[in-house]
Amino acid sequence: MILAIETSCDDTCAAIMKSDALLSSVVSSQTDFHARYGGIVPEVASRRHLELINPVIDAALKQADARLNQVSRVAVTTSPGLIGALLVGVATAKAIAWACGAEMTAVNHLEGHIAANYLAPDPMEPPFICLIASGGHTSIVFVPGRGSFEVVGQTLDDAAGEALDKGARLLGLAYPGGAELDDLARDGDPGYHQFPVALSRPDNLDFSFSGIKTSLFYYLRAAGKEEIQKHRADIAASYQSAVVSSLIDKTLAAAGLLGCRQICLSGGVSANSELRRRLADACAGRNIGLRIPPPELCTDNAAMIASAARFLPAMPVDDFLRMGAIASGGFAKGGKHARRWKPVT
Ligand code: KG4
Ligand code: ZN
Repeated sequence: MILAIETSCDDTCAAIMKSDALLSSVVSSQTDFHARYGGIVPEVASRRHLELINPVIDAALKQADARLNQVSRVAVTTSPGLIGALLVGVATAKAIAWACGAEMTAVNHLEGHIAANYLAPDPMEPPFICLIASGGHTSIVFVPGRGSFEVVGQTLDDAAGEALDKGARLLGLAYPGGAELDDLARDGDPGYHQFPVALSRPDNLDFSFSGIKTSLFYYLRAAGKEEIQKHRADIAASYQSAVVSSLIDKTLAAAGLLGCRQICLSGGVSANSELRRRLADACAGRNIGLRIPPPELCTDNAAMIASAARFLPAMPVDDFLRMGAIASGGFAKGGKHARRWKPVT
């Protein structure tokens, strides 16, 4: 029985998995808590994790009708993420594993997002390209088989969700504004204004979203109040479309470069209606399979961490006790387009 813990950002999550069956998955979101600050405050997030982690684990055990002494392996996200937030999960995992005599598995958060695709109701078999886009990360990974992956592109600055949230905020929407921006953009003309997207060369699979945010800031500053009021939906649609185009173009380019015929999405931004519609059309036109897991598996959760742990080595708790958390994720330069993930040792 695996107990999985995920606390890399602002969701406190625990899940129980037994013999490939997911018995429970509990997520306590801190979004409302951070809304008053207009974004995630790392120190506030780690303090809140401390308050929530035990009740969340209790709830996961209860839902699974399981007891702590049945747990044979504790899996925990050790990177990348907010360092204080990660440490709460790692320290909790160590304590539980030590007390139960369980083995431990360190899981990279991105590997968790990928492994969400191996869960019911519609498990996907590699090889596939996975676009992981959320408020904290934006990466394209190539998955040749279960238990391995290569990052082939990633943002050099802001995440796509962060760019959408900050754009939404400039347009007067509340945090996190990605979903509201999506709603507003539905009534707008995406061709109203061309916002520039950096790194648009098709052979460059990395993203950059900090410039587009600045460009919206200056656009709104120069535009009159009247224009902003009259064309708010058009501006929202143009801005969102630029971010989404970058995500789609690079994901399709990665599939082309690697000769891969399956694409899947993960991360909160995969809820975006324009991304889903345009990518589905593009994939259908190219005879590429597209899969989007259910929303509760796309956003941060511990079920995906349990799923990933099944394909990763377990280590004795005494060895794990020497390990910490790593905020930056542990990627190193690999081939021309690839940065291979180095497992934490
Ligand atoms: O994966 P997630 O729940 O949490 C992390 O960031 O780790 O992703 C949250 C992000 C936020 O930036 C939020 O605005 C964005 O996902 N998001 C959306 C939509 N729904 C959530 N972005 C665009 N369109 C949406 N419909
Ligand atoms: Zn995530």
